[in-house]
Amino acid sequence: MADNERTLIIVKPDGVQRALAGPILTRFEQKGLRIVALKLMHIDRSLAERHYAVHQGKPFYEGLVQFITSGPSVVGVLEGPDAIQATRNIMGATNPVTADPGSIRGTYALTIGQNLIHGSDGPDTARTEIDLFFQPDEILSYSRAGDQWVTG
Ligand code: RTP
Ligand code: MG
Repeated sequence: MADNERTLIIVKPDGVQRALAGPILTRFEQKGLRIVALKLMHIDRSLAERHYAVHQGKPFYEGLVQFITSGPSVVGVLEGPDAIQATRNIMGATNPVTADPGSIRGTYALTIGQNLIHGSDGPDTARTEIDLFFQPDEILSYSRAGDQWVTG
């Protein structure tokens, strides 16, 4: 188990426009993950290209960059035991049609291009993505009164 692992999440522009930022963040909070950084921002093309660099050259790349820059997003860092995998499980599969019905994508989304939420896919990616979106002093280390009832 990775204690106090951190992962980057993005409530994508469709999530903000559909007023789902609150319900989506609630899913992660309800799981027990701690929000240690959070901001509303309009991701620009340069940042989008760096964030999705791994997908450059793929057929969906241009549409993906257009979409993520199309309006404000809510960007955050979640912390907790195995936070990366826990977050990916709550998000659901990339294609919302096949995503677990209890997941965020399975509950709220229908198309792969508008799948509401991003989460880092591994420890190296998480570190790189967190550094891309946040200064170190924007990430807060703290504990919550109820944390002991989640992690013991
Ligand atoms: P994300 O990076 O946004 O968290 O999503 P993911 O890990 O589940 O999926 P990834 O493979 O990293 O793809 C990034 C985003 O690109 C779009 N996509 N479209 N048309 C397609 O075949 C296709 N494949 C991927 C999706 O919006 C996906 O979230
Ligand atoms: Mg990905």
